[in-house]
Amino acid sequence: MQGNHKVVTALPPDTADLRERILDLKETRDAIILAHNYQPGEIQDLADFVGDSLELSRSAARAEGRVIVFCGVDFMAETAAILSPHKTVLLPAGDACCPMAAMITAEDVRMLRGRHPDAAVVAYVNTSAVVKAESDICCTSANAVRVVNSVSEDQVLFLPDRNLGLYVARFTEKEILSWDGYCYVHDQYTREDVIAAQQQHPEAELLVHPECRPEVIDLADHVYSTSGMIRQACGGKNKEYIIGTEVGLLYRLRKLCPEKQCYSLSARAVCANMKKTTLDMLYRSLQSLSPRVTVGEPTASRARAAIERMLAI
Ligand code: 13P
Ligand code: SF4
Repeated sequence: MQGNHKVVTALPPDTADLRERILDLKETRDAIILAHNYQPGEIQDLADFVGDSLELSRSAARAEGRVIVFCGVDFMAETAAILSPHKTVLLPAGDACCPMAAMITAEDVRMLRGRHPDAAVVAYVNTSAVVKAESDICCTSANAVRVVNSVSEDQVLFLPDRNLGLYVARFTEKEILSWDGYCYVHDQYTREDVIAAQQQHPEAELLVHPECRPEVIDLADHVYSTSGMIRQACGGKNKEYIIGTEVGLLYRLRKLCPEKQCYSLSARAVCANMKKTTLDMLYRSLQSLSPRVTVGEPTASRARAAIERMLAI
């Protein structure tokens, strides 16, 4: 006699079943799934919207439903929580962070303001909420030049990415004082990587992210945000492209324009934190409504002002 016996298993359900369960739970929770262009392929495939930081900020600001599931890293989910304070914002890989964002603190920004009282503070969205709250305006890699040129001050404290600051300085009359932060994924590309890739693919156009070092940017045909690269590669006349950004973008490009040949500038370009999200985490997050990301007041209101000033441009 078996009695009231149930078999429980630690084995994960197969992926197709898990996908179905995530989609069902998404409906039940009235949730929307946002994913950054660097997320693993199976996460991109399930998302309602995949994009760059600027597009994701805009999607978070106008999202319907009660829950935003953010498949990305901490600062992106914080931005969504700031822009949609009445929604539940979930970061399935709760410890996914951006090491560059962690390179500057709110205290650092206050110290900089004390030293340069006449400068505008422009914060890359790759910053924590408390750093945004100390800033005048945010920017992303897609709009950094426009944002810097939009401020009335002649001097700009640009933080935290020195490479993006150096890139912006090429297109403005303003004096740019950059914080010495960097993205370890993009900062590692070298001239030698470019020369080797171009020798292998002599017909390919080189597209790089503005977080790359100046000597790499000097060799590029175009410098774009991740979604800008997609527009150029899928819409451009060339058949081949060398992609100077995190390898996750290659998945997106192969899906959106399989007729184009896209090669990674370097197989080393992997953002470990962007790769933390799994289908299992996504399911559990929707089930438990955690890990939840919240930003308290007055930080949220002050950071929102800097983000909304950017979105208005
Ligand atoms: P994008 O805004 O171009 O998507 O870049 C975000 C990022 O984290 C780059 O490393
Ligand atoms: Fe941060 Fe670089 Fe990863 Fe983007 S790729 S999230 S900037 S560490």
